[in-house]
Amino acid sequence: MGVFYKRLLRPLLFLQEPEKAHDYGVAFLAALGRLNRVCRIMESWNQVSSGRPIELFGLRFPNAVGLAAGMDKNARIWRVLPALGFGHVEVGTVTAQRQPGNPSPRIFRYPEFEALVNRMGFNNDGAEAVAKRLKLQQKQKRRSIPLGINIGKTKVVPLDKAVDDYLFSFQHLAPYADYITINVSSPNTPGLRELHAKEHLSELLGTLYTANRSRAKKLGQPPIPLLLKISPDLSFAQVDQVLEVMTDIGLDGIIATNTTVERSPRIASTIVESGGLSGRPLHARSAHVINYIYRATGGRLPIIGSGGIHDAASAGATMDAGASLVQVYTGFIYEGPFFPRDIAWALAPRHSGWL
Ligand SMILES: Cc1cc2nc3c(=O)[nH]c(=O)nc-3n(C[C@H](O)[C@H](O)[C@H](O)COP(=O)(O)O)c2cc1C
Repeated sequence: MGVFYKRLLRPLLFLQEPEKAHDYGVAFLAALGRLNRVCRIMESWNQVSSGRPIELFGLRFPNAVGLAAGMDKNARIWRVLPALGFGHVEVGTVTAQRQPGNPSPRIFRYPEFEALVNRMGFNNDGAEAVAKRLKLQQKQKRRSIPLGINIGKTKVVPLDKAVDDYLFSFQHLAPYADYITINVSSPNTPGLRELHAKEHLSELLGTLYTANRSRAKKLGQPPIPLLLKISPDLSFAQVDQVLEVMTDIGLDGIIATNTTVERSPRIASTIVESGGLSGRPLHARSAHVINYIYRATGGRLPIIGSGGIHDAASAGATMDAGASLVQVYTGFIYEGPFFPRDIAWALAPRHSGWL
């Protein structure tokens, strides 16, 4: 199947502009999602269970591979993804206000490096519309894998009003999430990455943490796990500060990493578009950051590894660096629909006690 995708389907898809190809992919998966029976059969074929589920921040993941944020920004296709073998899905980034994102073209392919550059700019329907969709979907089908919802800042909202903006999204989306990711690391919203700084981050995480606890108390439920998604472009001194804030507040986990604005000399003359770079060239840096976090926290902070996973070897290296789960995006575009299943298979022995 992987060969069929790479030899036939991918060349056809890659004839289209990247965003068009993405839209076709989403439309196809949305259509597939309506065929409940087919999805159930596919899920029974492709869902890789590692024997015992992976338990992390109180959730149970059937396998270690999730879809990273950005592909299903508006929660349209996540329900079909267990049928491809995904063990969790993260929808979003969702912002409080609906916004169109940056002008097109805003995704660029570099097949020679198995990389993408994007400057989408959080195009999405807004928290209220996405919440409405999730509510409707909840009535139709029980979810078989954990659903994460990634929230970010609305572009037109100034940085000093960011906390209320995130809080609005949290309050609307929390009822549908198994975990919430607080995204401060997209390079495509001006100023967003300044939220990594201690003074901003303490206020943002502290407010969301308190809101989460009060909500849980009111409902008599456990709080939802809160994760932070960070940039690979931080210095290790900055990572230390982020970890200090997270530990003081008591966040549940970290996603490392988002895309990078750095270009190594090897790729700089070819990859000239501005935006966040993902795919193979990101892997080493992401794994380095993951390993730094793992060592700095003595392995106590759960890490979801994201960045440049394209095969079993890179997935294994991300786990070896200290991740408990991985997320993929660019690898899924390059490797095809059964990539998550294949990676989940490759990682399964780590969770079954065979290794
Ligand atoms: C086209 C595109 C859009 C993305 N949009 C988002 C987003 O909205 N929110 C987010 O947190 N990450 C976003 N990302 C980053 C991915 O979630 C992921 O962290 C990153 O691409 C590294 O993983 P990869 O190398 O497997 O793609 C996006 C990535 C791509 C390629």
